[in-house]
Amino acid sequence: LPITLLFCGAVGLVVAYSGPDLPPGPYCGRTGECCQDRQDSCSHRILDSKCYCDQFCNRTQGHDDCCPDYPQVCLGVTPAPAPNTMGCRYGRKIYVPGDTVNQDCHVCECTEVPEGGSEWKCDQDPCLMSDEVLRNVREAGLSWRAANYSQFQGKKLKDGLIYKLGTLPLSRETARLGPIIYDKDIPYPPQFDARQHWKNYISPVVDQGWCGSDWAVSLATIASDRFAIQSNGAEKVILSPQTLLSCNNKQQQECRGGNIDTAWIFAKNHGLVDEECFPYKAKFTHCPFKKRGNLLTDRCVPVVPQRTSRYKVGPPGRLVKERDIMFDIMQSGPVQAVMTVYQDFFHYQDGVYRRSHFGNNELKGLHSVRIVGWGEDNQDKYWIVANSWGTAWGEDGYFRIARGENESGIESFVVTVLSDVTEAYLRK
Ligand SMILES: *[C@@H]1O[C@H](CO)[C@@H](O)[C@H](O)[C@H]1NC(C)=O
Ligand SMILES: *[C@@H]1O[C@H](CO)[C@@H](O)[C@H](O)[C@H]1NC(C)=O
Ligand SMILES: *[C@@H]1O[C@H](CO)[C@@H](O)[C@H](O)[C@H]1NC(C)=O
Repeated sequence: LPITLLFCGAVGLVVAYSGPDLPPGPYCGRTGECCQDRQDSCSHRILDSKCYCDQFCNRTQGHDDCCPDYPQVCLGVTPAPAPNTMGCRYGRKIYVPGDTVNQDCHVCECTEVPEGGSEWKCDQDPCLMSDEVLRNVREAGLSWRAANYSQFQGKKLKDGLIYKLGTLPLSRETARLGPIIYDKDIPYPPQFDARQHWKNYISPVVDQGWCGSDWAVSLATIASDRFAIQSNGAEKVILSPQTLLSCNNKQQQECRGGNIDTAWIFAKNHGLVDEECFPYKAKFTHCPFKKRGNLLTDRCVPVVPQRTSRYKVGPPGRLVKERDIMFDIMQSGPVQAVMTVYQDFFHYQDGVYRRSHFGNNELKGLHSVRIVGWGEDNQDKYWIVANSWGTAWGEDGYFRIARGENESGIESFVVTVLSDVTEAYLRK
């Protein structure tokens, strides 16, 4: 305790008179008058008080009421550097060793240094938003533009790669999932957008929040779209990614990421409920449903009265060729793709994304997204993809990315699945 008091005393003194926060003056230096005795005329206004330019102002330490420039002006001594042995400055405040402040995405601690004094020591992790990326992308004139996203300020890149993505590395077995080959020799339209083609059937962009649940969100949105498409609108339903986040906890890491194959198997065996019944909360919560329940025992209201079972899908299949991906989207709706994300991608504003290599190129993560269509921009081919970072990011929550060149691995693992709409066609 005495040490703490000493600290406060020292810092208190610094702030009281010769501290760096005092208005800069000059005081004695303004009139140049230095007095022998105490006189009111030999004083100056300082903050809400007075300071003196006489020899009595220096009698006792505790009542030091000399103007800050008294020694300099009246005694001709050069001022000693402000004693900062006990504290670190940040803005207008002084902190003692052990205090921490947040500066951008960094945590800085006031630390005593061996040479005496103390200084801020900050962690060196790169931030999610990078001025280097913003500047370079702007200057390079790429096929896409970068934005400075306020919602990413103060976040670290390493955390963004966990909590804005969420796809765990594919097992070797999964990566080799039997491919589906269509090889259809048909005229492919230069552009196709599921949002136009199936108006009102395509589920909105989700904001996964600060939770690595892309594995759950991408699956739930693709399955939703396909329920609406395959039932011709009879089962226009928004499925709940929270069902996966909360109930598919075996082999999954909740908000720290999931395996997409495990998620599809869960959706096939157990099914999902709808968003209204179990809204997305961007965090792990206890699973409220019985493993072998149905929409009735789950107390969910089906969109068609004859449905009782949860919304299930068929077995997933992998699409490997650009044209087969296009065919599958035209035929049955949006597909899931797993891409590799580096720092620059977080800055995407609009245009056709290609990795720039600006910013950090060491840290990366896997991201599951939803391809809803394709197009061409001056013969620059692209996919149209729904992200899950809300509509304030990218092109209203979507981005476009180069097509046909496996950009960022977007064509390396594309998954299609059929939604089970048989109950929608049952007669009751
Ligand atoms: C304070 O007084 C002491 C002697 O009492 C003197 O040595 C010193 O220079 C004075 N300092 C200032 C800042 O007036
Ligand atoms: C991005 O925004 C932050 C916070 O508003 C700001 O400090 C930074 O200078 C901006 N960077 C650029 C390149 O505009
Ligand atoms: C596509 O890119 C990913 C990641 O960059 C890579 O792992 C994969 O082998 C590539 N696939 C093909 C078919 O080139």
